[in-house]
Amino acid sequence: MFKVKDHYYHKAKSENYLARSIYKLEEIDQKYKILKPGDNVIDLGYFPGSWSQYTAPKVGPDGKVFAIDIQPVNKKLQLPNLKTFEMDIFNLKGPQDLGHDHLFDVVLSDMAPKTTGIKTVDQARSLDLIESVFKLLPILLKPNGHFVIKVFDSHDAQVFLKANKKLFKEMNYLKPKSTRSISKEFFVIAKSFIG
Ligand SMILES: C[S@@+](CC[C@H](N)C(=O)[O-])C[C@H]1O[C@@H](n2cnc3c(N)ncnc32)[C@H](O)[C@@H]1O
Repeated sequence: MFKVKDHYYHKAKSENYLARSIYKLEEIDQKYKILKPGDNVIDLGYFPGSWSQYTAPKVGPDGKVFAIDIQPVNKKLQLPNLKTFEMDIFNLKGPQDLGHDHLFDVVLSDMAPKTTGIKTVDQARSLDLIESVFKLLPILLKPNGHFVIKVFDSHDAQVFLKANKKLFKEMNYLKPKSTRSISKEFFVIAKSFIG
């Protein structure tokens, strides 16, 4: 996770966060007010867990974070209101598979496909992943719930997002300051799910 040892790498280390990606979610949340006390949140592709580390205290003791990754559970990540699962999110049938009775207030996805270095292949894989997560929303996200997802920019991704804008009352795009300048990633912050 800590591949490039830049300012955010050192900041995350010194603040005991498991990855520099924490600062992306922090900026998103400060700007768009995604998380609030009492929320039940699902963190898709959480490993190693910096987004969950940020989210769990934000939702507080009345909220819960359900963190899923295809990788074995990160035992370093222990928080009272957090449950971690080793699972492919596309095997998920709904919140009941995680021992939860309700749809989630917030769906977070920082998932990334395995990259090949071949731009067109990586863009296509990323779009596949994004389309699949959008398809899961009706079984995960409450009406009026919020959604954050990482996207690798491409013409097709832009077309897909435009076509799905109507699923939410509001859809914003942000490239956080902590994202490396050469990166093609940005985040979609979609508020108030209509479905
Ligand atoms: C960039 S990392 C997430 C970093 C995390 N947000 C943090 O702050 O620590 C992306 C993760 O997505 C996971 N992932 C990719 N496809 C997945 C899938 N189908 N199901 C579950 N996790 C998946 C990968 O295993 C990887 O750990």
